[in-house]
Amino acid sequence: MSQDNQGSVFEAAIKNFLAPIWDLLKDDSVTEVMVNRHDEIWIEKGGKVYKSETSFSDEDSVRAAANNIAQSVGRRIDDQNPRLDARLPNGYRIHAVIPPCARKGTTIAIRKFSTTQFTFEDYIRFGTMTLDVARFLDICMKLGKNILVSGGTGSGKTTLLSVLCNRIPKGQRIIVIEDSSELQINYEHVVFFETRMANELGEGEVSIQDLLKSSLRLRPDRIIVGEVRGGEALELVQAMNTGHKGCLGTVHANSPQDAIVRLEALAQGADSQLSEKALQHQIGSAIDIVVQISRYPDGSRRIGSVAEVLGVNDKGVYQVTDIYSLDRLVKKPDGSYSGVIKPVGVEPTFMKEIVDHQFPFPREKFKIKSAA
Ligand SMILES: Nc1ncnc2c1ncn2[C@@H]1O[C@H](COP(=O)(O)OP(=O)(O)O)[C@@H](O)[C@H]1O
Ligand SMILES: [Mg+2]
Repeated sequence: MSQDNQGSVFEAAIKNFLAPIWDLLKDDSVTEVMVNRHDEIWIEKGGKVYKSETSFSDEDSVRAAANNIAQSVGRRIDDQNPRLDARLPNGYRIHAVIPPCARKGTTIAIRKFSTTQFTFEDYIRFGTMTLDVARFLDICMKLGKNILVSGGTGSGKTTLLSVLCNRIPKGQRIIVIEDSSELQINYEHVVFFETRMANELGEGEVSIQDLLKSSLRLRPDRIIVGEVRGGEALELVQAMNTGHKGCLGTVHANSPQDAIVRLEALAQGADSQLSEKALQHQIGSAIDIVVQISRYPDGSRRIGSVAEVLGVNDKGVYQVTDIYSLDRLVKKPDGSYSGVIKPVGVEPTFMKEIVDHQFPFPREKFKIKSAA
């Protein structure tokens, strides 16, 4: 059965016990439904959280929903296992906790993965980035730079990763590894892998790291990791350093510098034999570009910086230099924000490559424009 088919058969089965929140789940603009208690339900829409009017009839019906969800994926939620972490066949990611651990009553959060697909044109229209930033990122993709997308939860990392992946030049073999299939990549030659959670007995887990090890034996040109959040960081960095150009991934961090430090911490967890210095050196030379994206209170997403990673100095400090940065964001009377990401006046170290490949992106693009 195809994944879509599997999803819809499954949906018919869960629709009954999720009836009070079904309309919310079916609303494409809703990205998360959070049941704190039978009569207290919140939703996330366009990056903002709102209280919903809907409710379950009582605690028993929320509990029944949690039980049924667990059962439908061959698990249990009860006194012995008061927490459930599950991924449903239709792509929803569910976490539930029952009383007494959850004080107010059975608590469930359902994260729907976004199916929105944007392009650079959309991003420019939204003000997420400028035309020059889009062109520069496109050049980085064409040149096979290793890129990390960094940001907080819901900042738009995965969406941006999809957009970048859709700029990969033809003729390559791409392997995509994710926890849940989210990335929307239209490409001729691509293999998608998805992790598997352990069963009730704690067996059978297939991690991102396992899948990354398999990928390396499957002749990838580029490896894309949906979210780097464990020991796979080490394999990814090593893959980048052994001739796999153009690898991409996202990481949860607040600045390009933090993203690199986080990557180091994750990789360190995977192999304590490797000296700190050796690891830092590997990371410093593996990652070329970090793109930082953030979500603002008005619901907008903006690229705050595009930085180049130059390496690590002898004090163990990563040399990360902004090429583009958004230094001022001004709140307007209507509550929205305005601000434009600009070049900081530093050329990327691979300027020569840009020139040699005849990309129509002259040096002047990296100069600071004086205010007219
Ligand atoms: N540039 C953008 N402008 C507005 N909304 C966006 C933008 N990028 C992503 N979104 C929306 O934000 C939500 C979270 O995006 P996602 O890429 O899943 O974030 P993350 O991977 O950082 O958690 C989605 O609903 C998506 O449609
Ligand atoms: Mg994501």
